[in-house]
Amino acid sequence: MDHFEYRDGVMHAEDVPLTRIAEQFGTPCYVYSKATLARHFRAYTEALGGHPHLICYAVKANSNLAVLGLLARLGAGFDIVSLGELERVLVAGGDPAKVVFSGVAKQPAEMARALEVGIKCFNVESRPELERLDAVAGRLGKIAPVSLRVNPDVDAGTHPYISTGLKDNKFGIPVSEALEVYELAARLPNVRVAGLDCHIGSQLTELSPFLDALDRLLALLAQLRERGIEIDHLDLGGGLGVPYHTERPPAPFDYASALLERLSRWEGNERLTLLFEPGRSIAANAGILLTRVEFLKPGETKNFAIVDAGMNDLIRPALYQAWQAILPVDTRQPRDTASYDVVGPVCETGDFLGKQRELAIAPDDLLAVRSAGAYGFVMASNYNSRPRPAEVMVDGAAAHLVRRRERLEDLWAGEALLPDDEGGSR
Ligand code: LLP
Repeated sequence: MDHFEYRDGVMHAEDVPLTRIAEQFGTPCYVYSKATLARHFRAYTEALGGHPHLICYAVKANSNLAVLGLLARLGAGFDIVSLGELERVLVAGGDPAKVVFSGVAKQPAEMARALEVGIKCFNVESRPELERLDAVAGRLGKIAPVSLRVNPDVDAGTHPYISTGLKDNKFGIPVSEALEVYELAARLPNVRVAGLDCHIGSQLTELSPFLDALDRLLALLAQLRERGIEIDHLDLGGGLGVPYHTERPPAPFDYASALLERLSRWEGNERLTLLFEPGRSIAANAGILLTRVEFLKPGETKNFAIVDAGMNDLIRPALYQAWQAILPVDTRQPRDTASYDVVGPVCETGDFLGKQRELAIAPDDLLAVRSAGAYGFVMASNYNSRPRPAEVMVDGAAAHLVRRRERLEDLWAGEALLPDDEGGSR
């Protein structure tokens, strides 16, 4: 459920017509619904009920300060993968004690800052990373809480680019080596074993891979117990899918209930805090990309609807052949329906937002690309020297600009001419 609905033929974000947002802030423009973000976050906390838990929103999905600030106020923790994400969380008022740090290439300076602010846990992805963390913590006189990210070798059944829990992927420590690395962690003087972690992929639409991964983690946990290594939390990562098209992924409630049921057979489970790192399932359907039709271009084999948003603004269709719904914003005027490839202004054939879409549209019409709240703006680039779009957060009847549209001079801020060129052209 989200809060993007037609009222009297015009799509609204909560109580604000998208036509008004386009007038006020221009296009292309990302529009988020505060109520939808809050609702999706609460679906997790309610599903987990009384079991000790922490929902660490995956910042990478949408790192706008307004999104982070809202989730922080709702009690969220955060899953970060860089110093930039950590600083965003802090600026947005997030609690460092609820931050977990994932990623395969954490640098010493990133580790040091995370230790300084006192994060909850480092999700360590390799033995050399563990050794580096121990050395950094030792230099600072700190003890680093660690969780090993184990690669359970289960097939998440998702797009190969976003599947992360297979032997072939660069992520995590193979489950067969995990025991050895835990034993090393238990011996190292400046780290403390705090948890066990996995993340098997993104946009999962079935429960079984999650349950398989949990079984493998629990088997490992039994071996750790035998060796006297106890953990406080189990982090099951993110990955729950969303309905983009015809997918029917389990709701957070069903997902959490199935995991809790499996876990309930485990002795001492009530003392094990469950962590989740959802990104997409919180943010994707809480946002749309608003774009305007520039031209309709009939072709010999197909028709093109050329719009003002391109692959630089929303790369998912081009990069993963992802399908996202594209809907006209204002359906009040009668229009002829035709099939269009909806394409952007970027000089690449791969620059499309959708293919073969039946649309009743005319030039200047507004379109909403749905499910764009996650992995949308965060993956935008300045390719073709296109300023990145504005971001707007709707809250009831109010629309707040939460990131201004980039200006042309932002494009070259930080660049420099060669000294020879400064006097003019020669
Ligand atoms: N935790 C870790 C360690 C991750 O690597 C990810 C996503 C998440 C949590 C959040 O997963 P989610 O709940 O959002 O599925 N750009 C791609 C998605 C890449 C996901 C990368 N890792 C896309 O647009 O589909």
